Amino acid sequence: MNTSTTSIHWSDDFLLGFGPMDETHQEFVSCIAAIQNAAPQDCLVLMDQLLEHATAHFQQEDDWMMATEFPPRTCHMDEHAAVLASITGVRELAIQGAPEKCLPLANELARWFPSHADHLDSALSHWMCKIKYDAKPLVFKRSVAHVTS
Ligand SMILES: [Fe+2]
Ligand SMILES: [Fe+2]
Repeated sequence: MNTSTTSIHWSDDFLLGFGPMDETHQEFVSCIAAIQNAAPQDCLVLMDQLLEHATAHFQQEDDWMMATEFPPRTCHMDEHAAVLASITGVRELAIQGAPEKCLPLANELARWFPSHADHLDSALSHWMCKIKYDAKPLVFKRSVAHVTS
């Protein structure tokens, strides 16, 4: 198990209010965390799962943006394509005998996801809620007790 980096874990702070997107994001976080916590020799099957997930995840968002003519869709779709290319490339390296490349990718995805969700997915979530429900997204977060010492 990797102990050098804290792995990502799901937090209600990631909730954006559009249910289908939030469910997908929860699965994405699980895929990344699984690689962060795996031994290199176990990463290939996890990379397969990540690639399958990311392909469907990004395609779903791209489809929503295209179907509803979401105005700022180009940069969002470009970012998806770039990340998918990175995942595909690292999976290929793992197949060729370099599974140690998987952890740095997972760490980079853990760093990338919160900002992508904040800046791009949140706008799409608002847009989809407006179109589907004629409403703003409502997010209910479990309260967290903060203990200071
Ligand atoms: Fe997303
Ligand atoms: Fe996205």
